[in-house]
Amino acid sequence: ETTGKVITCKAAVTWTIDAPMSIEDVEVDPPKAGEVRIKIISSGICGSDNHVLEGDFKVPLPVILGHEGAGIVESIGEGVSSVKPGDKVLTVFLPQCRKCDSCLHAKGNCCLKEDVRHPVGLMLDGTSRFTCRGRKLHNAFGTSTFTEYTVMHEISVVKLDEAAPLEKVCLLACGFTTGYGSAINKARVTPGSTCVVFGLGGVGSSVVLGCKAAGAARIIGIDINEEKLARAKALGVTDCLNPRNFKKPIQQVVVEMTGFGADFSFEAIGTIDTMVAALESCNSSYGVCVIIGVAPEKSQLAFNPMQLLSGRTLKGCFLGDFKTRDHVPLLVDDYMKNKINLDPLITHRLPFLKVNEGFDLLRSGKSVRCVLSF
Ligand code: APR
Ligand code: ZN
Ligand code: ZN
Repeated sequence: ETTGKVITCKAAVTWTIDAPMSIEDVEVDPPKAGEVRIKIISSGICGSDNHVLEGDFKVPLPVILGHEGAGIVESIGEGVSSVKPGDKVLTVFLPQCRKCDSCLHAKGNCCLKEDVRHPVGLMLDGTSRFTCRGRKLHNAFGTSTFTEYTVMHEISVVKLDEAAPLEKVCLLACGFTTGYGSAINKARVTPGSTCVVFGLGGVGSSVVLGCKAAGAARIIGIDINEEKLARAKALGVTDCLNPRNFKKPIQQVVVEMTGFGADFSFEAIGTIDTMVAALESCNSSYGVCVIIGVAPEKSQLAFNPMQLLSGRTLKGCFLGDFKTRDHVPLLVDDYMKNKINLDPLITHRLPFLKVNEGFDLLRSGKSVRCVLSF
């Protein structure tokens, strides 16, 4: 019985970004009011965690990274009513408090209680539930899944179907939901349309699945990694482009291939250059471009405003524009009804203690998603 007690467990601690994470014994405090302590069972390795480790996305250190997780509620703090011990849950970085301006708006999904845009890395009361070697550790985006136990706010915890396989649906905590929802909810891809997807990692591949589900007739996939291009064909990409094989800018290639540009374009890499290329790849009059990648801290997106005056739309969203606690369970239902297949995204599995090897696989371009098991 661990309820109400500090739990000592293994976690991957990022002390500095220029060294591998170190596996440490950490103490995890019991959940306070409105909080939930979760035993992590599975976690994916997402490109955003890699941006942190590569110094492109700054978060307060030391930190326990990881946000694409699934687990089981171990105990709950005072006042928690939406989950109970034993429930299967997902750890999502966008809360849904159901009270803020964004949550109360029909379309808003970026709850004002989020800790992603300018991460502080602490619970809402300004304290931490993690201690290691006498030092307090930060959490990552209100989640932290590279640990056997984590503490999250109830408002960021998505309750799952009891039968959901955690070693698969963990991808619904970030990568799949982000990509798929960008196509379905934010772009609103239409049947018969032409789409172009920049970056075919876990997120971009999920955009492809969303475009296909929405009935796109042509899906152009762009990546500098030939293996990613080959794999994406099985997901529904009809045309593969490797920018390294062309002398002219890739947006020009897309515009020529499509006549006047794609109906919908998506950026799932996280660089300014590819964001501009995605914008310029969509039709100048009615094209819609959705930015999904997280660009390096302090970078600025610059383009000639004429690109928009002609009629284009530029958009972006976190987590596929879903209101997380309301809508992610519906995706889980779709998964349980075999309407969504996550298997093609999961290329590797590793025990949690090999998390650093999982990042090597991502950086070398060998993995789409590597899922850690605890
Ligand atoms: N042009 C084309 N493709 C590129 C380029 C480039 N200049 N640079 C990288 N890529 C490809 C990589 O080869 C890889 O296949 O982009 C893909 C990125 O995929 P992952 O590293 O697996 O990252 P993922 O988890 O899919 O996240 C993508 O979305 O949520 C954000 O922060 C996340 O910015 C990241 C993006
Ligand atoms: Zn992610
Ligand atoms: Zn809110």
